[in-house]
Amino acid sequence: MAEPHTQVRWQSRRAFILAVTGAAVGLGNIWRFPYITGENGGSAFLLQYVLFILVLGLPVMMAEIMIGRSGRAGPLAALTTLAKANGASTNWRWLAVFGGLTLFLILSFYAVVSGWSLAYLGKSISGDFVGVSAAEAGGQFNGFLQDLPLMLGCHIAFLLMTMVVVARGVSAGLERLNNWLMPLLYLLLLLLAGYAVTTPGFATALHWLFWPNPDALSWQVTLDAMGHAFFTLAVGACALMAYGAYMPEQQSLPRAAVAVAVLDVVVALLAGIAIFAVVFSHGMEPAAGPGLMFVTLPVAFAEVPGGTVWLSAFFVLLVLATWTSSINLAEPLVAMLVDKHWSRPLAAAVVGLSVWGLGLLAALSFSLLADWHPLAFMAVFEGKTLFDLLTSIPPDLFLPLGGLFIAWFAAKVLSFEQMAAALGSASIARYWRMTIVWLSIPLLLLILLVTLYRW
Ligand code: PHE
Ligand code: NA
Repeated sequence: MAEPHTQVRWQSRRAFILAVTGAAVGLGNIWRFPYITGENGGSAFLLQYVLFILVLGLPVMMAEIMIGRSGRAGPLAALTTLAKANGASTNWRWLAVFGGLTLFLILSFYAVVSGWSLAYLGKSISGDFVGVSAAEAGGQFNGFLQDLPLMLGCHIAFLLMTMVVVARGVSAGLERLNNWLMPLLYLLLLLLAGYAVTTPGFATALHWLFWPNPDALSWQVTLDAMGHAFFTLAVGACALMAYGAYMPEQQSLPRAAVAVAVLDVVVALLAGIAIFAVVFSHGMEPAAGPGLMFVTLPVAFAEVPGGTVWLSAFFVLLVLATWTSSINLAEPLVAMLVDKHWSRPLAAAVVGLSVWGLGLLAALSFSLLADWHPLAFMAVFEGKTLFDLLTSIPPDLFLPLGGLFIAWFAAKVLSFEQMAAALGSASIARYWRMTIVWLSIPLLLLILLVTLYRW
């Protein structure tokens, strides 16, 4: 058995669930889920995404938390000590480094889109969207992408907000604030979805989202659904290992993981229903891309009384949600440098500046760098801007690849006693290992290999 690194435990079971929910619920649910669903033909994507949550996301999420819980340390130390203790190669530590790289790439576009949300908060408070029509909202978003001072300023502001918290190591306070406010965000989404029921496009939206549509199936849809299952649960980059390290002894890991996954899916579905009801009520284009949320929400709120206040409240809560998700993305990177004896403020500054630099190039993908296609030499990436590449390759390929190795480590390197201890029961451990070995790992291998082959 590895020497336990930490004796610290969260005070309650709720604390663990809330912390993992903070990492899970974010732009992935409210921004990425609707636009990816829209680009992939609705139900063809959605049904596979739910399936992948069940057979890949959830079991691998358990694997990731198990490793942290068994190692009682951050990703790098947990993987190293557990590998050593079980006679495996310490090269497993590279998995944590790969996870760090993935987090870095994700954070670089996440901060850009968070900056958009911040800008939209300001715009909605100043009443820019009062009585806006679908066409006007679309025009405003395209105009915003060309408004470099505002867009780039908000990108910087959001990164400062994130890195200051990480530099001072004070995320616990923010986490508590978030735990009070996130239920309000869910409530607002519920109200919005409830309002959607009364709109003319609601029935079409439901049909399009849930009624099987085999014509829309394609390999790209499957790949996107798998990637998004990992992205939305924050699984595959070793970020959840750190949470397992502080998990109270008596808490059930499987039950907590199921609770987070269910909540995450429900939040995404509410956002999807609300957004596609607007799309179909106003004859808009479901495949509008990354701007979908920013175009539909102002239109939705423009119709209801007191819309400006509601819309502003929505963006306040959304910015809070993306703030905690960004902190969760940045913290492991900074922690890795701190372990290498960097000071925390220096580590935060270096991470923040690098994330800013890459994000800046991504943010310009809609204006100055619209014709820059960095990986155009590969046929599959022809015509893709840096923003397109960053929002697809790390979530759709790197997270599943990391997840594959995380699953492998948890099922093949950990002893059965360690699995059973982390999962809380030997019979659950047997079921879990059977699922991972016979279902999750083969399916992940199959999808990744077919993808490579098709390239
Ligand atoms: N799960 C987060 C979301 O849905 C994004 C995320 C991915 C956060 C990976 C941390 C790690 O917005
Ligand atoms: Na999510």
